[in-house]
Amino acid sequence: MKGIVVYDTSYGNTKKIGETIAETLKESGLDVDVFYVRDVKKLSGKDYDFLVLGSPTKFGTMSFAVRGFLGKVKSEEWMNKPFAAFDTENPENVERAQAENKEWSAAEKIAQRLREKKMNQLMPVLKALVIGQKGPIVDGEIERTKDYARQFATKLK
Ligand SMILES: Cc1cc2nc3c(=O)[nH]c(=O)nc-3n(C[C@H](O)[C@H](O)[C@H](O)COP(=O)(O)O)c2cc1C
Repeated sequence: MKGIVVYDTSYGNTKKIGETIAETLKESGLDVDVFYVRDVKKLSGKDYDFLVLGSPTKFGTMSFAVRGFLGKVKSEEWMNKPFAAFDTENPENVERAQAENKEWSAAEKIAQRLREKKMNQLMPVLKALVIGQKGPIVDGEIERTKDYARQFATKLK
């Protein structure tokens, strides 16, 4: 089974989460390509069995580059294929979303778009916590990311 992990990043934190997911999936025996979103020139569902897509949260949603990438995910090719979505965001963002009962997470918005394309969401989204705009990633989040990827791998098999 072969998948593609795609991430956007400005300061490297979302890259680190995406690469951690890709490495963990490989350790679980899956074949994985990992790309910075702007490096994905062509995307064909014929080449992959699953998609993992992640973005830094910007103004409560995904980055422009990830929004553009979603346009390349053709429903005809990706329908019924499994996906997972992740983001990086600040702890205050999670608190705000809970207080307002509203989504401010890039990952939730990615997941919604992929569900609209009739893809199969195997897992709740992963919201990896970072401090401020540049990071660092909050302690324990890399281990939580590995656990998340292991669970995703189990569900894929
Ligand atoms: C222009 C801008 C807007 C942002 N808006 C949010 C936001 O709405 N919620 C949030 O939690 N973090 C916000 N952040 C912080 C980003 O989530 C953080 O910079 C990102 O997770 C870091 O990931 P990266 O290193 O991969 O770029 C914002 C950052 C920038 C630069």
